[in-house]
Amino acid sequence: MMHGWWMMVGSLIVFVSGNKPWDAPVPQTQSHTIGKLHWEPVCQYQLRHLQDETRITAVLPPRLEGHWVSTGCEVRPGPEFLTRFYTFYPNRLFKAHQFYYTDPYCRDPSYSLVIKGRLRLRQASWITRGATEAEHHLQKVGIVFHNERTMREIATQMNQSCPGFMLPTRSWIPGTLHEVLSAKAGRDCTAALDFTMHELSLVRLERKYLQQESTVSEELFLGDIHTEKRERMHYRPTGYQRPLQSAMHHLHPCPACGLIYQADEHHPPILPLVPELPLHLSGKWASIHCEVRPAVLFLTRYFTFNGNNQTWEGYYHHYSDPLCNQPTFTIYASGHYTKGIPSSKVKGGTELEFKVTKAKVTAMDKATVLMLNSSDPGTCGKNGFWVIGTEQDITQTNGCIALGIQLPHTEYELFKIEQGIKDHLLLFIGERPTDGSSPDTPAKRPTSYQAPLIQCVGASRVFSTPVNQNYLAMTGNSRSTALTSSPLALLFLLTGFYVLKWN
Ligand SMILES: *[C@@H]1O[C@H](CO)[C@@H](O)[C@H](O)[C@H]1NC(C)=O
Ligand SMILES: *[C@@H]1O[C@H](CO)[C@@H](O)[C@H](O)[C@H]1NC(C)=O
Ligand SMILES: *[C@@H]1O[C@H](CO)[C@@H](O)[C@H](O)[C@H]1NC(C)=O
Repeated sequence: MMHGWWMMVGSLIVFVSGNKPWDAPVPQTQSHTIGKLHWEPVCQYQLRHLQDETRITAVLPPRLEGHWVSTGCEVRPGPEFLTRFYTFYPNRLFKAHQFYYTDPYCRDPSYSLVIKGRLRLRQASWITRGATEAEHHLQKVGIVFHNERTMREIATQMNQSCPGFMLPTRSWIPGTLHEVLSAKAGRDCTAALDFTMHELSLVRLERKYLQQESTVSEELFLGDIHTEKRERMHYRPTGYQRPLQSAMHHLHPCPACGLIYQADEHHPPILPLVPELPLHLSGKWASIHCEVRPAVLFLTRYFTFNGNNQTWEGYYHHYSDPLCNQPTFTIYASGHYTKGIPSSKVKGGTELEFKVTKAKVTAMDKATVLMLNSSDPGTCGKNGFWVIGTEQDITQTNGCIALGIQLPHTEYELFKIEQGIKDHLLLFIGERPTDGSSPDTPAKRPTSYQAPLIQCVGASRVFSTPVNQNYLAMTGNSRSTALTSSPLALLFLLTGFYVLKWN
């Protein structure tokens, strides 16, 4: 069985047209049909056995040489919409392209940055397990504007924050590269752009093996961006952004990847049009990957939303290790939520409010039991009654101070749903504030997203909607006939960069 769908996945490896590494040879395989698996077990599986070290390994020290690309339109706090294309050379030099856009689909470019510098890897991080610290030095940063309005806006900001530096604002000459940082000339006007490359100070490289095909894919996780803009320049990352994918060692269909790989600062990638989907939350949604939160938690999430009565429940499974193999505790929370309204601040997003009225905690290791057993009476369930694997209701104690849970509690949220490949939906929930607090006021509502969840139950409802055909038509993918309706194969395609162990 394993053989069948790994093969099927393998046969779909090349999804984009192009003449660069994307044209990797397609393994000649026979596909077996799997069809009998249901979403519910798939979801449970995702939570219990998320990853398998024998297939997913951290490369230590990380070997960064090569080309790395975004797998889609990324949203940074602000919001900023961008795609990235980073190249690391063997001599520690790097060249990074960041393409910025005005829209959440990355179709309307505003400006592009070319960043050149040096990167030196340091020791393993003591804060973020599994990460390597690094030091970078910027040599040059150049900017190319893709429309006149963006140029005028940025020129005005630069005139204020960096008076010595003048852009030729009178004449709009498309395609001009303006140097905004030069280490040699001792000039740095990047502050006007809120620009920093601190993301390079935390690095993790994951390699995934498809054993039966000897296929390897690689993902590069770089440091997270602080959710508060004014903290961004000083913040040293402890979590990650959405990973970049290796241009040479890639796993899954990725229409965006090939476009980004072929782009440069004068020709920013314009991503394929994707359908905008209504926020139908009903159903079950689960993490695809072991997630990392800054300062530093490893976790997986599993939610159920009931659209009929606007109630929800969620499980947050916490772990002590970056592969989510060693559970520490699980939080169950439930409550209700409001009808969403389109976000005016973050285009493409929907604003909702979530009320948490009930919570339960299960300690999963001795350290957590000891911690909870010794918390002050009345602050976290029944004091002294904590046992590994036994759930305790913490609603009566208004939450659990030791775990930072307060009840009842309201969170101001930002959600969006995106179409994955074919029939499956991805749910993006707002990024948590980097300072570890909760978005408990409208002002703290997120402007970017966490790693997506995949819909596991309720998916059958979206099968055969016209959206899917549109999507495939728009990608112009001639291989789409190779897609079957096998849930596992599709799940695999959709989860893309994540390799799961299913057996
Ligand atoms: C920059 O500032 C100077 C002095 O305040 C002003 O004369 C000039 O017009 C400004 N240029 C732009 C592009 O804002
Ligand atoms: C809301 O609806 C779900 C699914 O129909 C049901 O299981 C749940 O008990 C309901 N909750 C409340 C509070 O009515
Ligand atoms: C927690 O407290 C209970 C009750 O006092 C006790 O039975 C249990 O052994 C304690 N667990 C730990 C790990 O100390």
